[in-house]
Amino acid sequence: MSRLDQKEIDEVNRRLSTAELPEILTWALDRFGARVALSCSFSTEDLVILDALHSLDRPFRVFALDTGRVNEETYQTADRVIARYGTKIEWYFPAPDGVERLERTHGLYSFRESLERRHECCSVRKLEPLDRALLDLDAWMTGLMREQSVTRSEVRLVEIDAAHGGIAKLNPLCHWTSEGVWKTTRGRDIPHNPLYDRGYASIGCAPCTRPIGPHEHPRAGRWWWELPEQKECGLHADFSQGGGI
Ligand code: ADX
Ligand code: SF4
Repeated sequence: MSRLDQKEIDEVNRRLSTAELPEILTWALDRFGARVALSCSFSTEDLVILDALHSLDRPFRVFALDTGRVNEETYQTADRVIARYGTKIEWYFPAPDGVERLERTHGLYSFRESLERRHECCSVRKLEPLDRALLDLDAWMTGLMREQSVTRSEVRLVEIDAAHGGIAKLNPLCHWTSEGVWKTTRGRDIPHNPLYDRGYASIGCAPCTRPIGPHEHPRAGRWWWELPEQKECGLHADFSQGGGI
């Protein structure tokens, strides 16, 4: 099972650009087997992918990063998903010494102090465990969609993830819309985080996420004290490159 090169990426992006989700996921499992996994935050996007993977009736892997600061409702959603699909979740928790150092040195809400401090917290709680989750993978799958934000408008179905050793990053919903995600969620009765029913549109860690108003951008409730082009936690943008995917 070799890694993708640019030629194959271009070919797959061309061939699968109009493919339905099951066809894309079938290609991913055929191509990477147990060396691809869904990165799951239990968002509606991720659960549409998980539901489709489950429908293929073949083994698939799912990992989740438990930052230690997510809402209780997110854990409850995870539990409902496990009960519904019988899927084993590979949980990753941040290295305890990193969290202890962060909290002892800068306190419990250091991410509100500056963009640097926010990046530091995301690095400790998300990026460090993500690095471990990706160790035995040649590809990871996300629920990224182009419509989500200015930082995601160029997302492609298959990309090389230079920030993670050049493995492949698969974004099977890149061309979907939130409307399509909700239609599928309701149509297939896929579990959803109850926070969406309380005005949340995009859900991350509890202290960095809030509900949005009727005319606000879906990501306005994430790190609401920052500018739109800064609203990335490093999972999908390299801080050291100053943002962008
Ligand atoms: S973030 O970078 O702003 O936090 P967002 O919440 O939009 O990301 O999620 C985008 C994708 O990143 C999700 O569809 C999922 O694939 C992945 N992701 C985000 N948070 C997590 C998490 N805690 N665990 C696993 N995957 C995650
Ligand atoms: Fe820390 Fe907030 Fe990033 Fe979660 S989203 S890791 S609490 S800065």
